[in-house]
Amino acid sequence: MIIITGASDGLGKQVAKLYKEAGKKVVNISRHESEYADVNICVSLQIGKEIKEAADKIRAIDEPLEALINCAGVWSNQKMGEITEEEIDRLLSTNVKSQILLVSNLWERIIKDGTDVVNVASTIGLKGIVSEAVYGASKWAVRGFSQNLLVEFKGKPNRVISFCPSGFKTKFFEKTGDDKTADGSVWMKVEDVALALKQALDLPKNMEVSEIVIARK
Ligand SMILES: NC(=O)c1ccc[n+]([C@@H]2O[C@H](COP(=O)([O-])OP(=O)(O)OC[C@H]3O[C@@H](n4cnc5c(N)ncnc54)[C@H](OP(=O)(O)O)[C@@H]3O)[C@@H](O)[C@H]2O)c1
Repeated sequence: MIIITGASDGLGKQVAKLYKEAGKKVVNISRHESEYADVNICVSLQIGKEIKEAADKIRAIDEPLEALINCAGVWSNQKMGEITEEEIDRLLSTNVKSQILLVSNLWERIIKDGTDVVNVASTIGLKGIVSEAVYGASKWAVRGFSQNLLVEFKGKPNRVISFCPSGFKTKFFEKTGDDKTADGSVWMKVEDVALALKQALDLPKNMEVSEIVIARK
């Protein structure tokens, strides 16, 4: 089975569709249901107790856990001088805490099943963008977590992929009130980004692409 956080929309939803088409059992974790999931665990990944509840439900499913794809995320465009504590908490809990706590809560199972972990970061995790300090910091943290998993998985069959795409077209930005994708420039198609993610996981288990950086041309 494949676990995908944030499979109710955007990239996670497209990845769920690909796995569904490939005949895999898909488990979605997000606040809303995913049409491509066989099992929907509807919780907020901002809240530690709900992450634990989700992990308990996954442990109760007696099927090998092939991959955990940490895709859920939110954006922030608060400018320097206007950044609030609430916004930092919202971003760091949704984007960073969720990934670390979910992996930690499922650790025993991940090691037992040789589960691969994909942590969706962003190219902002390799640079800076004006007015995106909070989002950028969260994605640098996500890349840091993937680096840590690389050493935690040393000598084990588990692989970790730090997945860093640049902009692709979803409702991601619109949800925070500023649709950057309406700027007239060319954004990647979410279908293509989803395919790149799955293709990296489909490689033989002795091939670990530890970081994927996809720029848009
Ligand atoms: N779009 C881009 O240009 C871009 C570029 C680089 C990286 N990324 C990254 O790619 C990932 C997916 O982005 P996207 O564009 O596909 O965004 P999206 O379409 O807005 O989807 C975000 C997903 O995250 C889930 N989510 C948000 N808050 C949650 C919460 N508190 N608890 C549980 N789930 C939550 C949403 O589900 P619910 O609302 O149902 O909870 C939704 O399924 C994010 O990590 C983002 O940072 C996006």
